[in-house]
Amino acid sequence: MTTVSTLPEVVTVRAPAKVNLELRVGPRRADGYHGLATVFQAVSLHDEVSVSRSDEWQVVAAGHYADLIPSGTDNIAVRAAQLVAERGGIDEALTIRIDKDIPVAGGMAGGSADAAATLLACDQLWGLALDRDELSELAAELGSDVPFPLLGGNLMGSGRGEQLTPVLARGSFNWVFAVSGTGLSTPEVYAEIDRLRADADVPEPRVSARLMAALRRGDAEALGSALANDLQDAAFSLRPELRELCEAGVDFGALGAIVSGSGPTVAFLTASHEAALDLSVSLSAAALCRDIRRAKGPVHGAHVVPAPRTP
Ligand code: C5P
Repeated sequence: MTTVSTLPEVVTVRAPAKVNLELRVGPRRADGYHGLATVFQAVSLHDEVSVSRSDEWQVVAAGHYADLIPSGTDNIAVRAAQLVAERGGIDEALTIRIDKDIPVAGGMAGGSADAAATLLACDQLWGLALDRDELSELAAELGSDVPFPLLGGNLMGSGRGEQLTPVLARGSFNWVFAVSGTGLSTPEVYAEIDRLRADADVPEPRVSARLMAALRRGDAEALGSALANDLQDAAFSLRPELRELCEAGVDFGALGAIVSGSGPTVAFLTASHEAALDLSVSLSAAALCRDIRRAKGPVHGAHVVPAPRTP
């Protein structure tokens, strides 16, 4: 007897945003990238990407930040889909719908989450059954931050951020994110850190024992004071108002404040869900940012959202 397997008509995948709990940036390498030592945490702001067959490549944007993402074929999700097509020997165009809830160009890897979601969605749509290692390899070709949202949780990143290893961690953390009106370009922030450190002897990057101990214990207060980001001074230099925003959040009771990745989103760690609500109200009243979002971390990485059952 032969088994006929039917491929799905549409596949939807959810992928999370990230915050770097610590981001240490080494010297600029010969290939233009910087060696990193970082700890990523996936947080509960998600994009959803749906892929379906189509006569031509197109991106349809929906959701909170829909108006801010490229809708043409230069969207990273199209590049992700075409990479999977190439790997699988598939010659088919897709419509890619992106339901955007992760701040755009905010340092939370929203574009990377879309790329990761698209890789997994295309794999399922075309029935390729690529394993996690193969997907991670494709993800690293698309960008340094793309492998992380495939896996989620808490992970240490090295290399240019794409080499991931587990970290011992417990607990759940309550975050408040202050989102700016306009994004920052990651290459510009890295160029600024090079400029600021032009005369400095930059050591090889290492994550601190203090941060790892705080995560191991699930100790929010210790984690708050161990948050660190080498890109923060570069982000402050390009956007001086971010310093004031960080200070305001700490004055309002946050356990710690940090520019998320290359910014300009600022992440505040709080002691509880209630403390996160209180901080949101205070930040909102101070009118220092465009948007305020609350989230918990860690959460799982990219996963398929089951299709609604047909009756
Ligand atoms: O890898 P991705 O395309 O996301 O990187 C965008 C840019 O950010 C790179 O072109 C580079 O300028 C900078 N970058 C870096 N070092 C890293 C990651 C990114 O200099 N480890």
